[in-house]
Amino acid sequence: MFSKLSINLAVRYMSSQQQKLQQTAHKVTSQQVFDRENKYGAHNYHPLPVALTRGQGVFVWDVEGKRYFDFLSAYSAVNQGHCHPKIVNTLTEQAKKLTLTSRAFFSDVLGEYGEFITRLFKYDKVLPMNTGVEGGETACKIARTWAYMKKKVPDNQAKILFAENNFWGRTLAAISASTDRTSYGNFGPFMPGFEIIKYNNTEALEKALKDPNVCAFMVEPIQGEAGVVVPDAGYLKKVRELCTKYNVLWIADEVQTGLARTGRMLAVDHEDVKPDILILGKALSGGVYPVSAVLADDTVMECILPGRHGSTYGGNPLGCKVAITALQILLDEGLAQNAEKMGNLLRSELNTLPKDVVSVVRGKGLLNAIVINKKFDAWDICLKLRDNGLLAKPTHGDIIRFAPPLIITEEQTRECAGIIKKTILNA
Ligand SMILES: Cc1ncc(COP(=O)(O)O)c(C=O)c1O
Repeated sequence: MFSKLSINLAVRYMSSQQQKLQQTAHKVTSQQVFDRENKYGAHNYHPLPVALTRGQGVFVWDVEGKRYFDFLSAYSAVNQGHCHPKIVNTLTEQAKKLTLTSRAFFSDVLGEYGEFITRLFKYDKVLPMNTGVEGGETACKIARTWAYMKKKVPDNQAKILFAENNFWGRTLAAISASTDRTSYGNFGPFMPGFEIIKYNNTEALEKALKDPNVCAFMVEPIQGEAGVVVPDAGYLKKVRELCTKYNVLWIADEVQTGLARTGRMLAVDHEDVKPDILILGKALSGGVYPVSAVLADDTVMECILPGRHGSTYGGNPLGCKVAITALQILLDEGLAQNAEKMGNLLRSELNTLPKDVVSVVRGKGLLNAIVINKKFDAWDICLKLRDNGLLAKPTHGDIIRFAPPLIITEEQTRECAGIIKKTILNA
């Protein structure tokens, strides 16, 4: 019926149409990106209006081709820089080989990853999960079951302590521990057995630990989402001492502070202390894939028996390979050392801003925040920073976090400090 020529013409026409469609897709404007996302996506975030399409190292580009310094790093997930070539290479190589087996079977990668990460952080065992909040949830489950199996807390009476203004994600358990109404309001009823104490207050901690039903204290070594709140020197050492004294597990949530972000591999390394349970996430995959991990020694981890916890994707070969490479990069590229150096430089530059404009500059390594005078609006400043080529996100109305990828150079740090200072002085 159809001649060969007409079929060829039809195929050619269709592929040219396809190409045109692809080209117009590439020519999408920022406004079109905002409108489409707003129309089809739930409004559970309030993003800064910038439509990104590409990232490399410390930079991201919007759909119009404008380049920005990324000073959020996807909430500290992109410590190794956007699209790190070694991580992307590991991802694509493993993706061609084996991606997911589920834990119904062994894979030849999970054990390799387990050996690597437990040796690196000096724990007996790892329990692999995907997101940070699953790491927190896993840690709470381990602590509760340890309470009944080891500490002999009466059935269903175990309590876990959390610090005021904590943030560990958005599941029902995580928001049950939250003191931020925006997080927990209208989502009740909440998880029982969670108690809140003041952050950075060891008297309050000791008082709460005296309750024999308390099995764990879960805390961020620096409170990230609360606005980079750094506790007093010696706090973590005292937390370690008190938890040991009262036979309570100390759970350190290093999902945001860990993996070189604060100038050490872990933020607890600043005080040379070891938590009983360590939660890692975010930068464990360098931003290419959700990977989280819970680490503990055998006396604790042996409480988790077959069938008691798991995840279809947790510990999959793709995520495990990516995590090994992401961790190796932190070591090979000396990113903790660079974070410490560049963090000191950034804070010293920001500290030259007038105190009636920026009242506080705080942080460790490259996890930093400024508190701006209430007469300015942090959102407006972030819009101006965006216009000047730097992306940062405000929290709590008057706080802006500055957390670039840890590969940032001295020249780039100085350039960014210049952008921030110029923007704030002209606000
Ligand atoms: C300290 C901390 N814990 C846990 C989480 C939750 O991680 P995720 O968003 O991957 O679930 C976050 C996220 O910001 C965090 O900052």
